[in-house]
Amino acid sequence: MPLAYFKNEFVPLDQATVSVATHGLNYGTGCFEGIRAYYNEAQGKLYILKLREHYERFVRSCSIMRIDPGHSVDEMITQTVELLRRQNFHQDVYIRPLAFKADPVIKVTLEGIHDEFAVFAVPMGDYLPTNGIHVMISAWRRLEDNAIPSRAKVTGSYVNTALAVTDAHLAGFDDAIFLTESGHVAEGSAANLFMVRDGTLVTPAVSDNILEGITRNIIMLLARDQGLPVSVRPIDRTELYVCDELFLVGTGVQISPVTRIDHRNVGPGTVGPVTEHIHSRYRQAVRGDVPEYLDWLTLVN
Ligand SMILES: Cc1ncc(COP(=O)(O)O)c(C=O)c1O
Repeated sequence: MPLAYFKNEFVPLDQATVSVATHGLNYGTGCFEGIRAYYNEAQGKLYILKLREHYERFVRSCSIMRIDPGHSVDEMITQTVELLRRQNFHQDVYIRPLAFKADPVIKVTLEGIHDEFAVFAVPMGDYLPTNGIHVMISAWRRLEDNAIPSRAKVTGSYVNTALAVTDAHLAGFDDAIFLTESGHVAEGSAANLFMVRDGTLVTPAVSDNILEGITRNIIMLLARDQGLPVSVRPIDRTELYVCDELFLVGTGVQISPVTRIDHRNVGPGTVGPVTEHIHSRYRQAVRGDVPEYLDWLTLVN
């Protein structure tokens, strides 16, 4: 039986429900996180990846949206570890914390409304193929920070993702890449992006309307540890057509190599060596097989 932590107790997931009049449901006034836990079969251990960093971002998102999750980062970490421990998972898991404006009021405001916090976890494997995907540049633009804060993980802002990814799927692509209103590359539909040009990993800056991704930080650290240069700078759309390698990164997608974009091959149209190298290091690290990166992980059992 899947469990949730909701209203300060552990309950069956199907009992963690809200009214249709809930403010967050009507107006998208919530913040959430997506966190992965990886099961290491050989060690018989479940590790949560970057748990503290996710809750720290959650608190920052909530602060932008004037939502009070009602718990400290340490308390939410403890509740999440306990949620997983109680379910005794022996597989990879996706964890979803959520805080939202909970009162049943018809009034568009962030003030004077009481907030709720919930967290639940479900088994999850790969979200996107990891052997090479075909993406399109979306006709939809990534939301502007001055319209809906792009560095906050706000529930309502995922309308932007849903529009882009649905168009991409209906047109036969695996995913979409957003440009900013100024025409520079922002990110994937729910993932950050790196391209490789002449041996340098390049990714857009946090001021290009991206979510400040935790996997993005991991990739930059892995690259530096491997002696690969990293550049944070604006990227033009057509640079993606002529780059050597391209990949999406995020908690959900993990690392997803892009081998075709807008009906053009990326490099030779196969997964490139830099992507392959970073990917294999990432896979080992998140499962607790790289001693120097064990401090990224929270052990559940
Ligand atoms: C819009 C968006 N960008 C980027 C990311 C990647 O962020 P992270 O690596 O922190 O999961 C996500 C979430 O996975 C996202 O929803």
